[in-house]
Amino acid sequence: MPGLLLLAVAFLSTSVHASPVSTAASGQEHGYPVIVHENGYTSAPYHGPYVGTPTTIGAAKAPTTLAAEIEPKPPNPTATYYNSLGVPTEPMPAPYVPAGGLGTNGTLPRYMVESDFDFESIALGTYQEWIELDLFHDGLARFTDEEFEEAGLGPDARSLIEFMANQESGHATLLSNMLGEAAPKQCVYNYPYNTVREWLDFNQRVTRFGESGVWGFISHLDSREVANLLSLSISTEARQQMIFRQMSGLSPMNVWFENGWPQSWAWTMLAPYISYCPENTTRLAWQNFPTLNILNNPNINRINPSDTADNGSESTGRRITDPSVSDVDDGQGCLHASGTGINCDPAIAHNRSEPLSFPGKQVFLEWEAPGKPVGPNNSYITATTAGEPKFVAWSSQLNLTYSPLTVTGDHTGYTFQPEGFVYEDDGIINGTMAMALTDLDLFVTPFNLSMLNPHIVALGLYMAG
Ligand SMILES: *[C@@H]1O[C@H](CO)[C@@H](O)[C@H](O)[C@H]1NC(C)=O
Ligand SMILES: *[C@@H]1O[C@H](CO)[C@@H](O)[C@H](O)[C@H]1NC(C)=O
Ligand SMILES: *[C@@H]1O[C@H](CO)[C@@H](O)[C@H](O)[C@H]1NC(C)=O
Ligand SMILES: *[C@@H]1O[C@H](CO)[C@@H](O)[C@H](O)[C@H]1NC(C)=O
Ligand SMILES: *[C@@H]1O[C@H](CO)[C@@H](O)[C@H](O)[C@H]1NC(C)=O
Ligand SMILES: *[C@@H]1O[C@H](CO)[C@@H](O)[C@H](O)[C@H]1NC(C)=O
Ligand SMILES: *[C@@H]1O[C@H](CO)[C@@H](O)[C@H](O)[C@H]1NC(C)=O
Ligand SMILES: *[C@@H]1O[C@H](CO)[C@@H](O)[C@H](O)[C@H]1NC(C)=O
Repeated sequence: MPGLLLLAVAFLSTSVHASPVSTAASGQEHGYPVIVHENGYTSAPYHGPYVGTPTTIGAAKAPTTLAAEIEPKPPNPTATYYNSLGVPTEPMPAPYVPAGGLGTNGTLPRYMVESDFDFESIALGTYQEWIELDLFHDGLARFTDEEFEEAGLGPDARSLIEFMANQESGHATLLSNMLGEAAPKQCVYNYPYNTVREWLDFNQRVTRFGESGVWGFISHLDSREVANLLSLSISTEARQQMIFRQMSGLSPMNVWFENGWPQSWAWTMLAPYISYCPENTTRLAWQNFPTLNILNNPNINRINPSDTADNGSESTGRRITDPSVSDVDDGQGCLHASGTGINCDPAIAHNRSEPLSFPGKQVFLEWEAPGKPVGPNNSYITATTAGEPKFVAWSSQLNLTYSPLTVTGDHTGYTFQPEGFVYEDDGIINGTMAMALTDLDLFVTPFNLSMLNPHIVALGLYMAG
C-alpha cells in the first residue's frame, strides 16, 4: 500500500505539472491502477444485515473537546474587500496575475489533507465512493437483462451504469490517496431495493446525499489542492445523480442551485446502509442523527404520486433514504402508462401532470428517539443535543426555510410544505432534498449551515417535485 501511495503522488504531480508524459509515450495501455479491496473489483458476494457484536462503539473522538457548540462570531476583520471601480487595486505579483488567491504564489501543491477537518471529510467521501462502487455493480449483477428491459433500460444504458461504477473505483482511489494509509476500506452493505426501479430510485437518493454532502464541506477544506481534485470527482457524481433521475423518469433537474449539506447529514443518510466494515477500518467523527420518517413521501412510480395506498409512505422500508416501492398494482403505475404528463419511463425529461409534492401539502412525520445503533457493525449510536422539536427545516437550493411543526403524539406530528422562491419563479422546495426537525428556527445560510446541527432533533430525505 505505501508503494501505491507514492505512485499516486508521483502521478498527480506529473499530471498537474502538465508533463508531456502521455500514456502513449510511456507505452502503457492503462493508467494508474485503482485500489481493490477484498470484495474485488465488482460488487460484494454478500449483501445483508450485520449480525455480530461490535468491538467498539461511537464516533471517533479526539482526547479533548473544547465546547458544546461553536459560538457565532462577527465577520472576519479581514473580510472587507470591495472594488467599486472594477480595476486591480494591489500591485500585481507578475504580469497578468491579479493579487490574491490561495495557492497562487508558486508554492508546490501538496495533494494531501491538511487538518482533522479535512481528514474526516475526505474519509466520509471515501465511505461514500465505496458504497457507490458496490451499489452500481450490485444492480447490474442482481437484475437480469429482461428486468432491465422491462424498466426501459437497454444495453447502452446498462453499459453507462457500468461506466459509472468504474468512475467510483477511480474516485475511491483518488480520495484514499489524499488520506494516506488510514483511508477507510470498502465495506459490506445492506440494500433496500428489490426491483430495477427501486434500485434506480435508491441510486438517485444516494448520489444526492453524496453530492450535497461534498458541496457542504468542499469550500471549508484547509487543503485547496484536495478541494481542487475533489471538485473534479464530485462534478462527475452530480452527473450521475441527474442520470439516475432520468432513468427513474423524474425531472432531471428542477432547481437552479444544488444544495450543500454538513457532513453529519450525509453520514446520517449513508450509515444505515453499511452493515459491516473490515477490522480496523478507520472510523468517522461525524454525528448520526435520529431518522425523521416522512410518512407520506410521494411514490415516484404512481401517476398521482401523492395517492399512496393507506395514506402512508410507500417506501420499501423505514430507513432514511429508502426508495418508493415499484409494484404499484392498482392501474396507477406510471411506468409504461401512455400520455404526456403521465408516463414515467426513463427519458431525458418528463413533465408530470400530478407533481410529486406541492406547496401546502400536509406532510406527516414520525421520528426516532436517539440512542439507536446504526452503521458499520451497528457501532455508531444516533444522537441529538436539541430540545423539543418545534420546526421543520427545509434545506434546498440556496435556502434553509422553516415551517412550524404540530406535534400530534409521541414522536409524531405534521407540517405543511411551505412556498418560497430563490430568484424569480424558481421554487425553493424541489428535487430530492433534506428535511430536519429542529428546536429553533435559527437563521443560517449555505456557508454556516452546520451551525444548525446542535438544534437538529431528527433528519429525513424528502422527495419534492
Ligand atoms: C504562499 O501562499 C500560501 C497560501 O496559499 C501561504 O500559506 C504561504 O505563506 C505563502 N508563501 C509566501 C512565501 O508568501
Ligand atoms: C465488524 O465486523 C467484522 C466482521 O465480523 C469484523 O471483522 C470487524 O472487526 C468488526 N469491526 C468492529 C469495529 O466491530
Ligand atoms: C487491527 O489492529 C490491531 C491493533 O492495532 C492489530 O493487532 C490487528 O492486527 C489489526 N488487524 C488487521 C486486520 O489489520
Ligand atoms: C392521513 O393520515 C393522517 C393520520 O395519519 C390523517 O390525519 C389525515 O387526515 C389522512 N389524510 C387523508 C387524505 O386521508
Ligand atoms: C412542461 O412544464 C412547463 C412548466 O413547468 C410548461 O411551461 C410546458 O408547457 C410543459 N410542457 C408540456 C409539453 O406539457
Ligand atoms: C432564498 O434565498 C435567496 C438567495 O439568498 C433569497 O433571496 C430569498 O429571499 C430566500 N427565500 C426565502 C423564503 O428564504
Ligand atoms: C418543481 O420543478 C418542476 C420541474 O421543473 C416544476 O414543474 C414545478 O413547478 C416545481 N415545483 C415547485 C414547487 O416549484
Ligand atoms: C449565518 O450567516 C448569516 C449571514 O450569511 C448570518 O446572518 C447568520 O446569523 C449566521 N447564523 C449563525 C447561527 O451564525
